[in-house]
Amino acid sequence: MPFSALVLAGCSGQQSALSPAGEESEAVYRLFVVMVIGGISIWVGVTFLFLHAARHRREAWPAEKAGALIAWGGVAFPIVVLLLLLGYAVWLMPAIRSWNPLAEKDGAIEVTGEQFWWRIRYPAVGDQPAFETANEIRLPVGRPATFSLKATDVIHSFWIPTLGGKMDMIPGRTNFLTLTPTRTGSYRAPCAEFCGASHAYMAFSVIVMEEDDYSAWRSSLTDGQASAADKGGQLLQRHGCVGCHSLRGLQVAGQTAPDLTLIGARLSIGAGALANTPENIARFIRSPSSVKPGAKMPAFNMLPEDDIEEIARYLGGLK
Ligand code: CUA
Repeated sequence: MPFSALVLAGCSGQQSALSPAGEESEAVYRLFVVMVIGGISIWVGVTFLFLHAARHRREAWPAEKAGALIAWGGVAFPIVVLLLLLGYAVWLMPAIRSWNPLAEKDGAIEVTGEQFWWRIRYPAVGDQPAFETANEIRLPVGRPATFSLKATDVIHSFWIPTLGGKMDMIPGRTNFLTLTPTRTGSYRAPCAEFCGASHAYMAFSVIVMEEDDYSAWRSSLTDGQASAADKGGQLLQRHGCVGCHSLRGLQVAGQTAPDLTLIGARLSIGAGALANTPENIARFIRSPSSVKPGAKMPAFNMLPEDDIEEIARYLGGLK
């Protein structure tokens, strides 16, 4: 019982392909169920034949009867079942993958895998400008969203189990994936290709919202910006944080590290590594590699403790 509880614990909630919340993941889920049923039917058929043969092993079988058993039970039956499964999978493919993604690339949300975080660029829509963020994607429910997927360093893989199948992110090329969320909620998306020491700490959040909430969020993006007039903003500049990170509102804007604009509104920090609290932000600043081995950000535990806490409080308040 404890074992089955452990096994099934992965089957529900935020990061499970078995609790679909999108059109593409529904298709993946149906395929999974049909494949399991097909696999079980072959297993039952072959097991039945095996037991039948074992029980009658001392009898002299006429060659014709034995041959027919092998031909129908051991060859024809599995071939028919496997062909049916193959046909069903091929028939489902268009529902799982959009086959003409190039036609939809305008307006795609650009996601770039980096060791060990996700750079996310939303395109300009109407009078709303393009903007960059990191490690969290918000989507309106019921509308197809196309992602253009890239990588800067090594191969990563984009996978939102509750919304659909995976797609590799390969340096030097762009892959496209279209997903259509059907249920609002917060989901977790892990990197699905081993990419280095902190592969296990490379995840992003997906928040599927009602259309109205999504529009309100998009147009509120200019609020809550950092300012050089704030003490926290000054510390971020003085200690050189903005050499790598950018925060809309501050003048210097680094491009090599995750964008921190409105970081206080995100569900987690460090690409899913820690819950988003000022204490955890301070902990991350002091020693990123103790949270995420291999993180490129150096330790800043030489900064005055008051400054670390002030910066953490300030970032946590940007929402
Ligand atoms: Cu990125 Cu694994």
